Amino acid sequence: MTEAPTAAPAALEPRATHLTIEPSILYFGTPVVLLSTENADGTANLAPLSSAWALGRTVVLGLGAAGQSATNLAQRPDLVVNLPDPALWQAVERLAPLTGRDPVPAHKADRFRYEPAKFAAAGLTPAPADLVGPPRVAECPLQLEARATRVRPAADGSFVVVEADVLRVHAAPDIVVPGTDHVDPARWQPLIYNFRHYFGLGAELGHTFRSETPR
Ligand SMILES: Cc1cc2nc3c(=O)[nH]c(=O)nc-3n(C[C@H](O)[C@H](O)[C@H](O)COP(=O)(O)O)c2cc1C
Repeated sequence: MTEAPTAAPAALEPRATHLTIEPSILYFGTPVVLLSTENADGTANLAPLSSAWALGRTVVLGLGAAGQSATNLAQRPDLVVNLPDPALWQAVERLAPLTGRDPVPAHKADRFRYEPAKFAAAGLTPAPADLVGPPRVAECPLQLEARATRVRPAADGSFVVVEADVLRVHAAPDIVVPGTDHVDPARWQPLIYNFRHYFGLGAELGHTFRSETPR
């Protein structure tokens, strides 16, 4: 049982002190997605991302400007946002040192290598999408077929911001509330990227007043 959303608030503790710090990264814990895009020769690229969020039927992605995924989306707007669960973290990590960009951009050359066959390198299975060119990742319980409507450089030019319309959602039956179109939040678990470490979710704390799947 989770707490009723109307329960009286527990006493909250203001933090007495904070340090001013200069962290090298600000990945404060967002879901990992595996982004499928289409290379110029019709093959698929697959890249792990954590800069991804959804609002309504739009997904927004942040992609390094020198990566193959950004290059692909500037030319071919079809994509699939595949959502791995925590059990897939090692497959995600097998993709981590790879790029579909040949030659490897200079700033990545010391730690990344070119890999044209990312699905095979990760041990993941491509499955055809219904409405877009790039394949879905069969092992991922949630897959969003989408098409980019805007690909534009961020203010400092180091990455691009992609806005994409979601066209079709695929969900494994075991994460769907039977007989509905709702993903069951008690059964779907995103893989979280938390300051470059992988986590699952902890136990449920409660739900917002607008939840359509209260228990
Ligand atoms: C868990 C994880 C999250 C990442 N998040 C992002 C991200 O949000 N944006 C990004 O551009 N790169 C991100 N990266 C790095 C890219 O995956 C990496 O630059 C990769 O080489 C891109 O592949 P591509 O050049 O084939 O597109 C992430 C890597 C990992 C392992």
